[in-house]
Formats: sequence, C-alpha cells, structure tokens
Amino acid sequence: MKYIVANWKMNFTNVQKINHFFKDLKTEFKKINENKQGKLQQVKIIIAPSFIWLDCLKKLFQEIKNELDYLNFELSAQDCFWENQGNFTGEISSLAIKNIGCQYVILGHSERKFYLKETDLMVNQKIIKAVENNLWPILCISVEERDLSKSEEKIYLQLKNYFQDIKEDSLEKTIFVYEPMWAISGFKGNSCSLNEVERGISVIIQSIKKIYPNIDVNKLNFLYGGSVGKQNARGFLKVTNGLLIGKSSLDPKEFFKIIQATL
Ligand code: PGA
Repeated sequence: MKYIVANWKMNFTNVQKINHFFKDLKTEFKKINENKQGKLQQVKIIIAPSFIWLDCLKKLFQEIKNELDYLNFELSAQDCFWENQGNFTGEISSLAIKNIGCQYVILGHSERKFYLKETDLMVNQKIIKAVENNLWPILCISVEERDLSKSEEKIYLQLKNYFQDIKEDSLEKTIFVYEPMWAISGFKGNSCSLNEVERGISVIIQSIKKIYPNIDVNKLNFLYGGSVGKQNARGFLKVTNGLLIGKSSLDPKEFFKIIQATL
C-alpha cells in the first residue's frame, strides 16, 4: 500500500474552488487504462482540507466512488485537540473529527510548531486522544538543520516526547513522515536528495527501535514530505511508503501526476 497525502493547509477558501479541483482531477483519472485502475486500488489518496470542508469532501468522495470505484479517497484533518470536549475555544476534538467521518489526522506539522509554538508534548497528548478515538495520526518528524548528524539526537528526543506513555501497538496505527523544515515550500523549499530522505527515515527507524526495542519496524509506514512535485515524486516513492504533499496537491493536474508516479 502507498499513501499519497494532500495537505491543503489553509488553501481553498470557497467550495467552488474545491468542486473545480475534483472535477479536473476526475477528468484526469478517466483517461487511465484498466491495468492502472487495478493498481490504484493499492494507493490510498488522503486529503487533508481545512476543518470546515471535511463534510463537503466526504460527500464528494462518495460521488467519486460511485463513478470511479477503484479509487480510495480518504479524509484527514490537519490537527486536533487533546480533549474530547469542553471549554477550549476554537479547538476541534479528535472525537468530533472521527464522528464526521475522518480516518486520519496530521499531527506535529512544523508549521504549527513554528507559527503556533506547538510543543512535542502537546503532540503527545494529541496522539493519545487521536488513537483512543480510532484516528490514525499522520505524524510529522521535523528537523531544522540540513546536516543530519547534528539532528540525530533531536529526532530521537522528538520521538521520545511524542510517544511518552504510549503503548507500542499504537505505532502500527501511526504513519510517520520525515519532514525536514528546510525542504518545505513554505519555508526554504530546498530540494532534498533521495539519499537524504533514506538517511532521515533510517534515523527515525533507529530512534523508534531505541524507544521500543521489540518493535517490528517492517509493519510501520514511513513517508516523506517537503517540496514534492511531479518531477521528483517517483524517486521518493522508491524509498518510502508514500508522500505528504503541500503546494503540489493544490493543482489537480500536478497532483494526478504524483499519484500516477505510484504506478
Ligand atoms: P510542501 O509542503 O509540499 O508545500 O513543501 C509539505 C508539507 O508541509 O506537508
């Protein structure tokens, strides 16, 4: 199974634009042959819109399924809060997100850490509640520096904080994303080499093994995120279980080409 996750961030500000996006995306899918349609059953296409569009996307996915039944569209939120309900103005709980029909939630994104000062321990609380509510965390592991040898310890500590008091079996319901901040288009947007992606993921794997010595890492999924586009998606897919895509997921033609790169 490959995971293609579209993180729309704070884009698409009206429903007409969203309808247009899916109309154009469907036009692309209708051009592909049966052999490729079969292969697409092995790809999960997860879209993470702003909270207010979750319900609208759920309906659109149903319409797409009726027409193109080989496609697996799934819904993700971009964040959640660590309590189920209560006096937390402006927050959205993982319980409400689950109840609206989401299967996933992005947690620990570096834009939230940078702009909203979200800490690893807040992320920890969110993971606990999300898993409790049967949501799969799409968990971002970020590094600021390009030189990985300087970040190994930081990655380990980040994961240790993320998984404080969390049992090993929750990891099988977590999708790990290696997301160097310097590669994200909203920051520096520098291109990350395949080698750097492989090394980043291997540091994450080593850190997980240090925290959970008995874990079978082959059961876990590791994605890459940071300036992925149609030109580099195929390469990254060779060394990962999928991609987290920001900017290039906003253009239906480009997004389609990235999905095609899984085939
Ligand atoms: P980008 O974003 O593809 O625009 O670099 C990736 C991410 O932040 O999820």
